Amino acid sequence: MLKVDDEMSIESPDISKAKSELETLHEDRRTLPIYAHRDSLLKAIEEHQVLVIVGETGSGKTTQIPQYLHEAGYTKRGKVACTQPRRVAAMSVAARVSQEMDVKLGHEVGYSIRFEDCTSEKTVLQYMTDGKLLREFLGEPDLASYSVIMVDEAHERTVSTDVLFGLLKDLVRFRKDIKILISSATPDASKFSDFFDCAPIYRIPGRRYPVEIQYTKAPVADYLDAAIVTVLQIHMTQSPGDILVFLTGQEEIESAEEILKHKISGFGSEIPELVISKIFSNLPAELQAKIFQPIPIGSRKVVLATNIAEASLTIDGINYVIDPGFCKMEAYNPRTGMESLQVTSISKASADQRAGRSGRTGHGKCFRLYTADSYKTKLDDNTPPEIQRTNLTSVVLSLKSLGIQNLLNFDFMDPPSNEALLKALELLFALGALNKLGEVTKVGRQMAEFPLDPMLSKMIVASDKYKCSDEVISIAAMLSVGNSIFYRPKDEQVHADHARMSFHTGNVGDHIALMNVYNSWRETNYSTQWCYENYVQVRSMRRARDIRDQLEGLLERVKIELTGCPNDLQAIKKAITSGFFSHSARLQNYGSYRTVKHPRIVHIHPRSGLADNFPRWVVYDEVVLTTKEYMRNVTELKPEWLVEIAPHYYQMKEVEDA
Ligand code: CDP
Ligand code: MG
Repeated sequence: MLKVDDEMSIESPDISKAKSELETLHEDRRTLPIYAHRDSLLKAIEEHQVLVIVGETGSGKTTQIPQYLHEAGYTKRGKVACTQPRRVAAMSVAARVSQEMDVKLGHEVGYSIRFEDCTSEKTVLQYMTDGKLLREFLGEPDLASYSVIMVDEAHERTVSTDVLFGLLKDLVRFRKDIKILISSATPDASKFSDFFDCAPIYRIPGRRYPVEIQYTKAPVADYLDAAIVTVLQIHMTQSPGDILVFLTGQEEIESAEEILKHKISGFGSEIPELVISKIFSNLPAELQAKIFQPIPIGSRKVVLATNIAEASLTIDGINYVIDPGFCKMEAYNPRTGMESLQVTSISKASADQRAGRSGRTGHGKCFRLYTADSYKTKLDDNTPPEIQRTNLTSVVLSLKSLGIQNLLNFDFMDPPSNEALLKALELLFALGALNKLGEVTKVGRQMAEFPLDPMLSKMIVASDKYKCSDEVISIAAMLSVGNSIFYRPKDEQVHADHARMSFHTGNVGDHIALMNVYNSWRETNYSTQWCYENYVQVRSMRRARDIRDQLEGLLERVKIELTGCPNDLQAIKKAITSGFFSHSARLQNYGSYRTVKHPRIVHIHPRSGLADNFPRWVVYDEVVLTTKEYMRNVTELKPEWLVEIAPHYYQMKEVEDA
């Protein structure tokens, strides 16, 4: 059976029920720790232009402060923006606040994240990702339409948040009427205060119950397995209370869900019901709300979550936390320019934050699936800020587009390494986005209009030259959706793989196969049935269509004509190469590949259409590290294109077929 589109059913509103629900929501608001401090907090905001606010997760910062500001009249002067590092958090918090204010989501309360704008003329409270606010700066450098900017979850220290800090610090000098709030869940806020010229710190006293921490006696061999066993043990032996399990990503969560369901069904009706819910960033919006839904009396809920539940989202009723001690983190090597997502040990700060999630409403218990000794000796105190471990190409192009010439002088709270900055400048130069003086070129200005990685935006801008913008924006949209296009049920893998490979006919490569998927779907007039028959996720396709529409709009804005060349695959491949030339690799013996710049051995991902084909030269989208380093989304190219397309980056001798 294929998974069907389980969209939320819409119930007819029951007015008397709605009323009492609203009353409960209002009562809930008054029981939050922040409520007692409402007036003094508003007074502090009135008195200071920049205020750092510290309060434990769940105290009400994110949902309440924007509402207090609205009630106090700030929204008469402009919108209140509240930034979140994660898109799911922005969406779900906006939904909650719209309920509390009893307005329709997207009206007075809205959210905006990349490729999705759920706001309107009416919107006064705008939740948004930090990356989105960064993009707002590009269109409106004085943020004139905002009266308050609340940089929330500041302790997460994402690149966008860090860059916002520098920009906002500058902004307050010439916009005396704007208020900046920096809110954080970690008690050590002195760093934020110091950065903003000794801004005062407002502390919301927390309310937290004791948390008992249990370690394993010996290291566990398989943490997923250990986590599942622990869930079952808690369920069968411990008093009522919901369970929160921290896992590293969607795949892991889905396989944990499957195993748990299987085990539970083995017990039959011997044990109380266990309601499994999950949350990760790619989870469709209509399913996100499920984690907050009440469960039947007598049952227990287990939430399988990524790091997102560590601080950005608070789920009520959690008494047990299971912490395997890992998260997925981006790793970047500025020397080689290689980036990869890796499963890494968390920091002590994270471990403590995770444990704290169990003690919000009563005594909590946290099961750490590692030894007390590893906690003490193996975990770092804090995770280094993202800006020091990530590719900066996109940020550098944004800053340059904002007219910040000398990045070495930019006011970073923790500056990135010079090496990483230079690497970004070098790539932007090779992409033609910057000239020799480091100034943004016409191509660079066009690229900056797209909310995409510069390599992808260059691919789009270059499609103008090759007259294939129609095809290339479909590819860019499909890539932006992520790896959730194809569906591969366990008992139908052969059929699913067969369907997937049909888009690869002629060994066209993964990018063009994605385009084939999109075009075939478009030809059926976007049929849902077609998706089922081809093991393609209809939800992902709808999202791709939506992104594609937006990219089409942006093409018009940068004056690139929409032209197609459906039969000229070489033109499309050249456009792809124009963006991804720095990700080139060449076949070695035994089917391995060697990257051309900064040589390193990589392999074609087994799910690539070219996995058994071994073309001599390829470009790839990204490298993922699982059992090996795999190139994902691979397209064949002719080596001479590299010199033709990126003459400042490649020399003839590097691309000669020896
Ligand atoms: O930002 P902070 O961690 O201080 O707290 P918050 O996110 O404002 O959460 C306050 C309350 O709102 C908590 O009790 C949450 O459970 C609830 N909440 C919710 O029910 N649904 C959401 N989407 C977000 C918050
Ligand atoms: Mg919050």
